[in-house]
Amino acid sequence: MSASRSILLIIGGGIAAYKCLELIRRLKDRGISSRCILTKAGAEFVTPLAVSSLAGERCFTDLFSLTDEADIGHIALSRSTDLLVVAPATADLIAKMATGLANDLASTALLATDKRVLIAPAMNPRMWQHPATRRNMAQLEKDGILVVGPNSGAMAERGESGPGRMAEPAEILAAIELALAGEATTQQRAIGFLGRLPGGAGSPQGPLAGRHVLVTSGPTHEAIDPVRYIANRSSGKQGHAIAAAAAAAGARVTLVSGPVAVPDPPGVETVHVESAREMLAAVEAALPADIAIFAAAVADWRVADAAPEKMKKDGSGLPPLALIENPDILATVAHRPSGRPSLVVGFAAETQNVVAFAQAKLAKKGCDLIVANDVGGTGVMGGDANTVHLVTREGVESWPTLAKQEVAGRLIARVSEIIDASKARA
Ligand code: C5P
Repeated sequence: MSASRSILLIIGGGIAAYKCLELIRRLKDRGISSRCILTKAGAEFVTPLAVSSLAGERCFTDLFSLTDEADIGHIALSRSTDLLVVAPATADLIAKMATGLANDLASTALLATDKRVLIAPAMNPRMWQHPATRRNMAQLEKDGILVVGPNSGAMAERGESGPGRMAEPAEILAAIELALAGEATTQQRAIGFLGRLPGGAGSPQGPLAGRHVLVTSGPTHEAIDPVRYIANRSSGKQGHAIAAAAAAAGARVTLVSGPVAVPDPPGVETVHVESAREMLAAVEAALPADIAIFAAAVADWRVADAAPEKMKKDGSGLPPLALIENPDILATVAHRPSGRPSLVVGFAAETQNVVAFAQAKLAKKGCDLIVANDVGGTGVMGGDANTVHLVTREGVESWPTLAKQEVAGRLIARVSEIIDASKARA
């Protein structure tokens, strides 16, 4: 990558604006320079001085500033860059973009640009879920705007939580790197599609156009009684990112998700389930599929006889919990005598001998590819990064530690290549 990559960062008015200071610093570390526009509302949260000090050049604030216009007009500002990034993208900025309003420097630059635009939405969950914002987001995705986040979690407002937290600087940085990567190769194309480039779900343009991709994600909950259950630490971030990447690559995607806090990916048909048996039923109902990717952390066991009423402490000691094995969804689908997807991908979360165990699992489960990850250290389950090895019968491919979104984009790119190669052989 050349050191001359540059972005135009538009900082909107939200509490998350402070994260942009960290983003500018991280971009600089990666050799990406930022020229910044601070909206009037954005300037309520961070100062032009802080932004310009970090960016190393003046920060633009006003469309009608004669000096700004004399130095560099808004048209040139919006085009002398490789990518426009809006962070935080407030409900107001998103609405302006969706309708093509241009009444200040930020919205004018967004309308005048001929470059790609990446937005990092940030707002109150109710605003994010409001039908007006849903409509505006659907329009922006149709227009080929790239999107990163929002994440779910606690809001700055007391007692509020849900989807609407701006993506973290590391996630925005990863999305910027993807957007700047271009589309020269199949892999880069698919990575680009991750950001919902023109096309999107079911698009005739993407490398997976015309394919049905089935993805499982998240944990399963196995009932002990009506209020207690057995679970694991899976967040669904990796599986959901894979479903989003497949949709962005043009596939029709069915996501079968266990209970997770991450939002349903846009453009994906999401089926919500609780237990392993429900997940298997939903997977079988969604078949046939061309590609099946089993990223869910399915509970291996369930309680043999879940109690119909809440179990009570009655002084007679610990209640016995007899466990029985759950159906193996991956193995069931991979071993189907008919209607097996052309490509079946499994995951292997291991704490030791990662590759050797994955190779054994590939044979035992009957799948075509195993994505093996080391969950021995802290932070993979529920975290934003992943270190994986791709294990096939032909060999092992080890990837560096990447953001889960990037793992998803690369995996979808590899899956597209494998499917194309098998079509060429057939
Ligand atoms: O055997 P193990 O749980 O390590 O295998 C992991 C892989 O198998 C993952 O792809 C997971 O989604 C899948 N799996 C499944 N059904 C199960 C257990 C695991 O689909 N009951």
